[in-house]
Amino acid sequence: MEARLNEPLTEDARNLRALSSEGGPILEFGGENPFVSYVASNALLSLQNPRTESAGEPSFLITSQVMELQFKLASIEVARTRDLLDVDDVGAALWTLRRLRHVYSSLSSSWDVLSTLSPAEYGEFRDQLGEGSGFQSYMYREMEFVLGNKNPALAEAHSGDAQVYRRLQQRLSEPSLYDAALRLLWRRGLPVPDDCVERDWSVPYLEQEAVVEAWRTVYVERDKHRDLYLLAEALVDLAHDIARWRSLHLLTAERLLGAKVGTGGTTGADWLRRVADHRFFPELWMTRTRL
Ligand code: HEM
Repeated sequence: MEARLNEPLTEDARNLRALSSEGGPILEFGGENPFVSYVASNALLSLQNPRTESAGEPSFLITSQVMELQFKLASIEVARTRDLLDVDDVGAALWTLRRLRHVYSSLSSSWDVLSTLSPAEYGEFRDQLGEGSGFQSYMYREMEFVLGNKNPALAEAHSGDAQVYRRLQQRLSEPSLYDAALRLLWRRGLPVPDDCVERDWSVPYLEQEAVVEAWRTVYVERDKHRDLYLLAEALVDLAHDIARWRSLHLLTAERLLGAKVGTGGTTGADWLRRVADHRFFPELWMTRTRL
């Protein structure tokens, strides 16, 4: 059979092909291996270049790269969820949030690999980082901005790269996922203040008593606001999963560094502890005290 894999096949053609190969895999291609081409494996697998002979460095380098890719996937899905809320499609937003949970669960599992490093193994390649730190990950920063943790000062770490900087400024200036959720509550007639509906989105969000009250209404009247109630709990799931990733980061850093300062210039574990204390979608956490 002559069909080429990288041309879309009909289901019938696929069945015929399986028949002719007696159910076995295709081993010859007219040209490029189609999986390698689709995944860009050659480019992707050429990027793992440890700088030392340390047995721990491939784990650190590859896990960092995997996390970078997952930050990218999370950013895409968070932005998609936000856009779905903007058009009042809460059902589709919940569907995307369901996938996002698994992205964060997978991100958290990655710390298991890094927690097998001993301080001595980490020390064998740590110097290679120089002043490099995950703190400088622009994909992570973009993900934080689109989720709602806006901090214009932190975008400055990327002012040397015009394209990245423009993208971060764009993310800063547009509504976040949480902004979209509050706008949805407002459209549904819940008592969300007007300044949550239109404002300078690049200014860090400050929690408001009236928003706690709006979420409390959703929880108390959950039969009336069924989809908003499900959304609220799905957002708390997400915030919970991100907090878990951050807590595991802190634990891993603490077991490798103790109280040493970070390569990125912070106090290290102390600084990460403050990061781990931050909560996305703050009023959803505050509401719990009132229920
Ligand atoms: C396993 C060894 C690791 C240690 C000891 C460690 C330690 C630290 C420390 C001390 C900081 C604070 C900034 C600084 O002074 O450097 C930091 C920030 C950060 N690290 Fe790691 N890290 C590790 C692995 C990773 C990996 C694999 C990633 C994934 C890309 C990562 C992502 C980040 C991010 C995104 C921040 C900034 C957090 C924020 O601003 O909210 N780290 N890390």
